[in-house]
Order: sequence, then structure tokens, then C-alpha cells
Amino acid sequence: MPHLHIEEFNQIDFPQVYDEVHFNFIAKNTNHNDEKLISVTVDEEDFFLLLIEEENRTLLKTDKLTRPASIYNVHRALLAYAKTADLHVINSNVPQTQKNIHLQEVTALKKIEYFANEFPLDKEVKIEVGFGSGRHLLHQAANNPEILFIGIEIHRPSIEQVLKQSVIQKLDNLLVLDYDARLFMELVPSNIVGAVYVHFPVPWDKKPHRRVISTSFIEEVRRILKIGGTLELRTDSENYYAYSYETFIAFNKTTLQINKNKDIAVSSKYEDRWKKMEKNIYDVTMINDVFSEELSIAGDFAFSNVSCNFENVLALHNKTFRFDGGFIHFERTYTTKDGLMIRLSMGSFDRPEHLYILLNKENISYYPQLPLKSRSNLQAHKELDKVLHG
Ligand SMILES: C[S@@+](CC[C@H](N)C(=O)[O-])C[C@H]1O[C@@H](n2cnc3c(N)ncnc32)[C@H](O)[C@@H]1O
Repeated sequence: MPHLHIEEFNQIDFPQVYDEVHFNFIAKNTNHNDEKLISVTVDEEDFFLLLIEEENRTLLKTDKLTRPASIYNVHRALLAYAKTADLHVINSNVPQTQKNIHLQEVTALKKIEYFANEFPLDKEVKIEVGFGSGRHLLHQAANNPEILFIGIEIHRPSIEQVLKQSVIQKLDNLLVLDYDARLFMELVPSNIVGAVYVHFPVPWDKKPHRRVISTSFIEEVRRILKIGGTLELRTDSENYYAYSYETFIAFNKTTLQINKNKDIAVSSKYEDRWKKMEKNIYDVTMINDVFSEELSIAGDFAFSNVSCNFENVLALHNKTFRFDGGFIHFERTYTTKDGLMIRLSMGSFDRPEHLYILLNKENISYYPQLPLKSRSNLQAHKELDKVLHG
């Protein structure tokens, strides 16, 4: 993650523009005064820089929840803030001269809104969840130019590695998304996907709610697969295999194929490691034989009433509200010049979304972007509206 370690933080006047980077406002954590967020806009991308004051120095880096598609824009924002605030930088991993990787990002790396607004439908689609080093994804894309591959990852260095390879190999049938794959599935149209690959997912033995495979994930994948389409899980973890098998077989009707130590066309870094250790590798392949209903999601993310009591909102810090099918958890509260900002997680238990909301005397809105338009988020939004005005 790009970051600067600085001696001491100097606050600039907001708003202000430096080197075409817009610094909009600063938000201060009400419970931890060593944490602040700076709202920036670069090339129409809105995101936060996160500032953490440590004992003898301060860390300035990109905020994970709002990080933009272009890492180049993060570099620009960090360098511009350091210059305009005259910061003394102790150390940094931000290059002063930028590589050309961002040029590629503009084409292959997409934001979630790209898929939400108009899902690409001109080719058959195959999706890889958590592609890691990308060996399998790149191999598939290079060998099947007639198919559009969508790779979803949350690990930024893996994403950049695959983007570079995609440029070198001149692949124009590969799109990459930095997003939680569990949420992404909810906005894919029904019956259009040929395959979903989940190879060597993190087993999360101690935090099962973070697993990719779950009942709701399988339900969503069944909906998006065309007839004959497959969900292909490959794992070295006996425990994860057993858990997944049980989750798959609990469906009333399902067609499964189980393989042990099957060779596939390309072996990933993880796979090579497990093979050296002579571990068993399990495949569970679900073959879809159901035609699903069209995806229809009605509703919006407007708040019914724009005024709310700030003291009541501050008291929500650390509170959790559960409702049928989901929850809202108020993670952090911040003060801004005009009012408050809250950070919360909400949605379904196994596919939560993390978001910010800005509140001032005249307005309440999600910032910098709306939640993903999914059924579980729309339901959570309705509940949130009640909590804020209850
Ligand atoms: C153990 S690695 C396996 C990587 C690759 N499939 C392979 O076989 O080498 C699991 C990958 O899944 C990614 N991942 C975990 N949860 C994810 C999620 N919810 N959405 C997208 N990617 C995820 C991780 O960042 C990690 O790179």
C-alpha cells in the first residue's frame, strides 16, 4: 500500500486544490483523536487518505474502504498533500516518477460501478474469484479469446501483477476488479456465466463468516450460471472441502462432481507448494441445470428525512442492529466542519459492505459512493433509515 511516514502532520485549509488534486474536507475520529480522514478528488475519483498519528511519527496512506481504481491517483494525492502542507517526509514507498501501469488500469481494471451500470454481455463470461498470482486466469484468458474473463481480487499487489502481465500478453478479453467477490455476484445478470472458479480460497477455519463459499454465495452463483455452467472449487484443505461439500449437498437439487488429486491445465503457486508437500487436492464442481429468473432489484438509497439529532448519532458508535437477513454495525464516528460522518458495515452477514455516511444540517448521504445496489443492501438501507430517525 502506498504510504508516507512524516514527522508531524500539518493541517491545510479545506477546501483547496494543489497540482489538480482537490482536498475537500477533513474528518476527525471522535473516539480516537490520532485518526483522521482527508477527502480528496483526483481525475473525478473520490477517496480518503487516512492519517494515523503514532508515537514519534505520523502515517499517511490510502484508506482501504474508498481506495480508487488508479493507484497512480493515490500517489498523486499523497505527494500533493505532502507538498502543499510542507510535510517533512521520513520515508515513503511512493515513486516520484510514475510508471505507466495506470494507463493499463484505465482499460483492464474496472470499478464496481462499471459492472453495476451496464454489465458486459457481448461475450460469454467466466469469473475467477481470488486469482492470487493469476496463473490460472491469465492462462485461461490467453487460450480462450472468445470468452470474457473477469478476475476479482482484494489483494492489490496481485492485481497489479496481473495487470502488467495482461499488458505484456496483449489480452483484451480480461477485466480485473478490486472488490469482495461475494458482493459482486449479486449484480451479475442471471443465466449468462459459463464458469466461476474458486481456487484455493482462504479456509478461514477460525472466522468461517469470511469464507467465500457459503449458502448465499452458491445460491447467487446458481442464478448467474447458464445451464451447464460450473462452479469449480479447488482446495487443499480437507476441512474446507468437507464444509463446502456439506454446503453444496444441502441444496434440494444439485449436481456435483468430486475429484481428488486431479491435474488441471495450469498449476498455481499454491498448488505447486501443496504438491511438493504431498498434500491432497480436492475439487468440487457444481454443474448448473436450472434456468433462473431475471435479476430485478427495485429501490434506492435516499434517506426519508434529512435532519437527525447529532447527539443520538454519536451515541450509535459501536452499536449493532440485527434484523431478519442482515445487520448494521456502527464502526466509527467522525466530526467534520459541517457536521458528522459515520463509518458502518451493513448488509447480509456473509456479504457485508463497509460504507461512510455524511450528515450535516441539510443533508444525509452516502459518501463518496452509494452502496452496491443489491437486495441485501437495500434492505439494510431501509433499516438504517429507521435507526437514524427512530
Ligand atoms: C490462498 S489465495 C489463492 C490464490 C490463487 N487462486 C491460487 O490458486 O494461487 C486466496 C486469494 O483469494 C483472495 N480473496 C480472499 N477473499 C476474497 C474475496 N471475498 N473476494 C475476492 N478475493 C478474495 C485473497 O486475496 C487471495 O489472493
